[in-house]
Amino acid sequence: MSDASRDTLISANENREMFDRIASTYDTANRAISLGLDIGWRRKTIEMLAPMEDGLYLDVGTGTGDLAMELLAHVPKAHVEAIDPSEKMLAVARDKALQLGVSRRPRFQNADALNLPMPNTLFDGIVCGFCFRNIEHRQRALSEMFRVMKPGGKLLILEATYPENILVRWGYKLYTPLVPLIGKLFGDGDAYSYLLDSIEDFPRRDAVTGMFRIAGFQGVSSTPLAMGTVSIFEGRKPT
Ligand SMILES: C[S@@+](CC[C@H](N)C(=O)[O-])C[C@H]1O[C@@H](n2cnc3c(N)ncnc32)[C@H](O)[C@@H]1O
Repeated sequence: MSDASRDTLISANENREMFDRIASTYDTANRAISLGLDIGWRRKTIEMLAPMEDGLYLDVGTGTGDLAMELLAHVPKAHVEAIDPSEKMLAVARDKALQLGVSRRPRFQNADALNLPMPNTLFDGIVCGFCFRNIEHRQRALSEMFRVMKPGGKLLILEATYPENILVRWGYKLYTPLVPLIGKLFGDGDAYSYLLDSIEDFPRRDAVTGMFRIAGFQGVSSTPLAMGTVSIFEGRKPT
């Protein structure tokens, strides 16, 4: 467990400023740091969501929109709302949706996970990729996602997690010093040092599934990917 005195949570404003700063290079840096594996992780998240053709879905912390676009690649007729507080990340997402020419583009909106501008019981499902770790009040964000979800709807959170296996952790410690260097190549080493600290301080898998249950989700589970360096958390709103 990490030192309890460390707290890498930063305010919503600091978060927004950081993502505004790295928006233009975010996708390339992401691909490089994950060795291209992030594409498959998003695909797996959407497969686990199993979206319906005419369903209505929400992508929380959409950033440059990859998870929202992956959803539409699976079910082109779904309706996707996608929110993020970083206007620069949203600008990249909007451009990408135009370039990809998806038949029905996600509706990108500037909003905060802690105060979703949507009525209760609206969405058939919600996804959230590599964003939950960044949220200052995570339990509140889960309650918001629960609130806007229809009964029976699924929440899938894809997140970077600190490996729990000692041997994997050893390999992780060897690889991760490269991450800020890769970040520096793309113009911002500090943001990627923060990324590593925030992963180490992020609650362990059992604690995250506990938070899902406190928010009211049932059938809660976590699926480790890439030897536990990434996890998909899943829960369903009771019917
Ligand atoms: C690491 S990026 C992930 C983007 C995208 N979901 C992906 O899979 O690549 C994290 C995103 O979460 C957003 N974010 C941070 N705090 C947030 C909050 N309180 N509510 C919604 N989004 C937030 C950031 O602006 C950023 O775009």
